[in-house]
Amino acid sequence: MHNGGNKLTFIFKQIKRPDSGCVTYMIGSKETGECIIVDPLLDIDFVVDEAKIESSCKIIGVIDTHTHADHISGARNLAKRFKLPGVYMYADSGSKFKTIPVTDGHILRLGNIELRFIHTPGHTNDHMCILVDNSKLLTGDTMLIGDVGRIDLGLDPRENSDRLYESLHNKLLRLDDDVEIFPLHIGAAHHLGEKNTTSTIGKERTNSPALTPKNKDEFFKYMTEDWPPKPPDYQNIIRLNRGETSIEII
Ligand SMILES: [Fe+2]
Repeated sequence: MHNGGNKLTFIFKQIKRPDSGCVTYMIGSKETGECIIVDPLLDIDFVVDEAKIESSCKIIGVIDTHTHADHISGARNLAKRFKLPGVYMYADSGSKFKTIPVTDGHILRLGNIELRFIHTPGHTNDHMCILVDNSKLLTGDTMLIGDVGRIDLGLDPRENSDRLYESLHNKLLRLDDDVEIFPLHIGAAHHLGEKNTTSTIGKERTNSPALTPKNKDEFFKYMTEDWPPKPPDYQNIIRLNRGETSIEII
């Protein structure tokens, strides 16, 4: 049973910087006055200020959907500032800092809201989507609006492509059509001009060119044609986000 529609029993906010295509999310419980931040940008002052515009929720958790390659995560700094026990990340993220490791199917409760972690390897091996209250899916870079996240920033693009194909078709597309999706990037991937900030599983199933390939070979062809250049310095960004090199930018 979905809990979507206009009468949300919880607080849900997209936090977008005007100068960035990245989106941070805040999920808050009206019941407990607590909230969780997902994929915070490095400018955590901005994230915290934006999160508190609509509520005075106490930040009790922070999640990174995956090890980012295109921007430096603010999750560690947020955890430090709010004295959180760690950053929720997938169990094999390889991060060198304190994480709270979770695996596929793990459920995190925030008041009466349920956040279910869905492991969706492909864009990265440690990627997780988060299903909030069975109605809103934070898709990270696994599913974008009209596209999917790139697979060429890891070790083996073909293997990543096959994994992403399986994550999309065996996990996300098995969700109901009316589940809303909320990606980490707006206007990324093939479709730099995308302006919408949300979609649904049903709309993507029907409209997304990334979901029409009928097999892994066709999908790999789609995933290796017409992409914008790789993010500059992405290998150093991955190292920073894993905690392999120091970062003290507060
Ligand atoms: Fe990413």
